[in-house]
Amino acid sequence: MQDKIKDLNEKLAQAYLGGGEKRIEKQHANKKLTARERVQYVLDEGSFEEIGALVTHRTKDFGMDKQQFYGDGVVTGYGTIDGRLVYIFAQDFTVFGGSLSETHAEKICKIMDLAVKVGAPLIGLNDSGGARIQEGVRSLGGYADIFYRNVQASGVIPQLSAIMGPCAGGAVYSPAMTDFTLMVENTSYMFVTGPNVVKTVTNETVTSEELGGASTHASKSGVAHKTSTNDVECLEDVKKLLSYLPQNNQEKPKALPFELGDELREQLSNIVPDNANKPYDMHEVISGIIDEDSFYEIHKDHAENIIVGFARLGGKSIGIVANQPMFLAGVLDVNSSKKAARFVRFCDAFNIPLLTLEDVPGFLPGTDQEWNGIIVHGAKLLYAFSEATVPRITVITRKAYGGAYDVMNSKHIGSDMNFAWPSAEIAVMGAKGAAEIIFRKEIKDADDPEAKWKEKEAEYAEKFANPYSATERGFIDEVILPKDTRRKLIKAFAMLEDKHVDTPKRKHGNIPL
Ligand code: COA
Repeated sequence: MQDKIKDLNEKLAQAYLGGGEKRIEKQHANKKLTARERVQYVLDEGSFEEIGALVTHRTKDFGMDKQQFYGDGVVTGYGTIDGRLVYIFAQDFTVFGGSLSETHAEKICKIMDLAVKVGAPLIGLNDSGGARIQEGVRSLGGYADIFYRNVQASGVIPQLSAIMGPCAGGAVYSPAMTDFTLMVENTSYMFVTGPNVVKTVTNETVTSEELGGASTHASKSGVAHKTSTNDVECLEDVKKLLSYLPQNNQEKPKALPFELGDELREQLSNIVPDNANKPYDMHEVISGIIDEDSFYEIHKDHAENIIVGFARLGGKSIGIVANQPMFLAGVLDVNSSKKAARFVRFCDAFNIPLLTLEDVPGFLPGTDQEWNGIIVHGAKLLYAFSEATVPRITVITRKAYGGAYDVMNSKHIGSDMNFAWPSAEIAVMGAKGAAEIIFRKEIKDADDPEAKWKEKEAEYAEKFANPYSATERGFIDEVILPKDTRRKLIKAFAMLEDKHVDTPKRKHGNIPL
C-alpha cells in the first residue's frame, strides 16, 4: 500500500507542477499568476477540491503521445468564496499554452454540469492559446460543448469570466455568453482574429492590445465589464462581484444585517443645479442614497451617458440604472441602451431589485444613431424593463422627456413605485423646443419674436417643467424631498420584498436583437 500511496503522491506532485518550473517562471516573468495560484487566491483558504487532476489528452498525432501533462492544461474543481460554494476552472498556460483539447473541454463541461445541477456560480479563469492545434476538429467540438452549456446555464446560475491571458478565435464566445467578463490590463486580450489576419484581410496595422486589450473592450466595444491592473486585483473583483449575486435564479442575494435609522441625507438637496442645462454627476446622487462605499460599477468606461452597477441599500443587493448628465447630457443612444438592457435582464434573471435614477433629455438624434439602429437598440431597453418582474422603483431627479420617459422604467411599463424630486421636469420635450414648435406662427408674427419665444417658453415650462402634471395623473406616486430619498427607497423596496408576478406561458419572448 505504501508504494501505491507514494505513486499517487508523485503523480499529483507532477500534476501540481503543470508544464514545469521553466514555464511557471515564464508565466511569472510575464506578470501572470499560474492557474493554481489564481484558484488558491480567489477561493477561501483550504476550500479547493480538485476534480480531474490526473486527466491526460488522448492525441497521438504530431508526437503528442510523448508529451503528456497531468491535468491537460486546465485546473477544475469546486470550493468556496466567503463560505459560498462555487465551481471554478482555470486554464493553465504552462501546459500547451492552456490550449483547449477534447479532454480539457470535457473537464470544464463536467464542472459546468455539476454547477447547474447543484445551483452554484461558475467562475472561468481564461488564459489560453485557443484550440489545441494538434487535435483539429475534436477541439472545436469541445468548444461547442462548452458554448452549449453556457447557454443552458444562462439565467440559471451566475457565470463569471476573467480573461487573464490570451483568448482568441472561437474561445471568445464562451466568455461572451457568460454574464460578466473581467479583463486584466496589458496581459490579456480577446479577438476573433488576431493582428496578422487583420493585416492580411483589411490591411490595417494594429497591435494585440489596441485590437482587443482590456481598455479597448472596456471602452470601445463593451465586451469587458470591468478591468483591473493585475491578476490579484482581478480576482478581488470576481469575489466582490459575486457578493451581490445569489447562488442561482431560485434564490435572492444574501442581505447584510441592517436596522432602519432616520436615513436622512441632506447632501442630496444640493446636487441638481438650478439651471436645467447644467450637468451634475449622478454618481453623487447614487452615493448619497446607497449604503456607504457599496457601489460596484459595471461598464464604467463604456457608454458613460448611462451608469449601471450593483449596490447595497439597507443591506440588500440592488441593481442601479442611472442617466449620467455629465456625458452627452444623459441621452439614450445605441450603446447606452444596449448596456442598460443587458444589465436589467441580468438583474431580473437573478432576483435583484432595480432602482432607476432618471435625468434624460431624450434619444440622441442623428444619422449615425438612426443608421446604427437606435430604434431597435432603444427598444431593447424598453423591452428589458417591460419584461422585468423584480421589484422596480424609479426616482426622477430632473429631466424625463419624450419617449425616453416611457423607456426609463416608467409606471406604464410595469414599474412598482415612481418618485420624483421637486426639480423633476416630466414633459414631451424641453420648454424652449416645445414653444418653438407649437407657437411657431405666433412667434414669427410677433413684433419681437425673441421676446415672444421667451414668453411662450415660460408658459410651457410653467405647465410641464415640473413633476406635478404627471403626479396628478398618478404616473408619479409621490414627489419627495431629495433628503428623504434613501429612507423612502429602503421602505419601498422592503414593501415590495414579496412581489410576485405570473407571466403568460410562452416559449420565450422575441426581444429586438
Ligand atoms: N495549440 C497547441 N499548443 C499551443 C497553442 C495551441 N493553440 N497555443 C500555444 N501553444 C503552445 C506553444 O506551442 C508553446 O508550447 P511550448 O511551451 O511547448 O513551447 C506554449 O503553448 C506557449 O506558447 P508560446 O507561443 O510560446 O507563447 P506566447 O506567449 O509567445 O504566445 C500565443 C501566445 C497565444 C499568442 C501563441 O501561442 C499563439 O499564437 N498560439 C496559437 C493561437 C491560435 O492560432 N490558436 C488556434 C485557433 S483558436
